[in-house]
Amino acid sequence: MRRAKITIVGAGNVGATTAHWCAAAELGDVVLLDIPATENMPRGKALDLMQSSPIMGFDSIITGTNSYDDTAQSDVVVITAGIPRKPGMSRDDLLATNAKIVSSVSEQIRSSSPSAVVIVVSNPLDAMVQRVLQVTGFPAQRVVGQAGVLDTARYRTFLARELNCSVEDISALLMGGHGDTMVPIPSCTSVGGIPITQLIPESRLNEIVQRTRDGGAEIVNLLKTGSAYYAPAAATAQMVEAVVRDKKRVIPCAAYCDREYGVGGYYVGVPVVLGSNGVEKIIELNLTAAEKANFQKSVDAVKSLVKTMGELLAKS
Ligand code: NAI
Ligand code: 2OP
Repeated sequence: MRRAKITIVGAGNVGATTAHWCAAAELGDVVLLDIPATENMPRGKALDLMQSSPIMGFDSIITGTNSYDDTAQSDVVVITAGIPRKPGMSRDDLLATNAKIVSSVSEQIRSSSPSAVVIVVSNPLDAMVQRVLQVTGFPAQRVVGQAGVLDTARYRTFLARELNCSVEDISALLMGGHGDTMVPIPSCTSVGGIPITQLIPESRLNEIVQRTRDGGAEIVNLLKTGSAYYAPAAATAQMVEAVVRDKKRVIPCAAYCDREYGVGGYYVGVPVVLGSNGVEKIIELNLTAAEKANFQKSVDAVKSLVKTMGELLAKS
């Protein structure tokens, strides 16, 4: 049986760490690609990762390259190409640079892996995933963004620490854009089946939500030289697994919503069923009036980001 072929574009912190998680879980063979200016860096990282395989006990093959020829006919392509945030920068500050990078990557993927499911990670996420859809012309189902799995993992981590309980028992949902406007859904957050609202007072829960919203910036400020990558890579590998193993995971992803939630043709974080065909279903929840209002704010922020991206690309 042919093993799944997983290409990761951008062999930096998130890309290489995603390659590591994917290989260690034997999700398939991994191709790690970076720009020619990085010369042999992707080959070096791939070789180093391969040499961990006898210790970790995996048989996935990891190849490093600067050529899209080596990525041909991938089943999944992960895009992490771009620049990360530095202290004081918002994700949106990355817009102009990363829009150009992601456009050129998308052109390459369109011809090298026309049947792939594409998982976008580059920031600002909700705009970059829209750009990949525009340039590849792939069905929207096969273009999806990673943000919700990470944001929810941060939230679950903070909740578990607050309650001194296992992260495994925390089930949570955050919706909306990846950033300051993400929307917590307390009615879908529970600990061992117990609603979170019975365990943590509202004021404390609001503080934990705010820390989650600021979760990326908190790490940027600690690292000083880049942004988070272990948890983002683990989140991305979970999405790759959902696709290559057709797990039909119910997880929050940036999915193209048209009629769904009345969004009107933009990517926004919503609960989806993720399987071998990509986004197989968008789950529509009955939101409370307050959740609806916050979700709409988030959608408006995404729309304005996409509009700015269009203006910047038109000028360049
Ligand atoms: P990094 O700087 O470590 O790696 C980025 C890599 O992309 C570099 O190796 C660079 O050479 C490469 N690259 C640049 N242009 C390229 C091109 N045209 N083709 C192929 N490769 C190219 O950055 P890091 O930390 O890996 O972050 C990558 C991106 O992911 C950033 O935009 C960051 O903001 C975003 N990110 C998104 C998250 C999310 O939850 N959606 C979480 C963490 C990071
Ligand atoms: C994060 O949330 C930078 O988007 C990235 O860590």
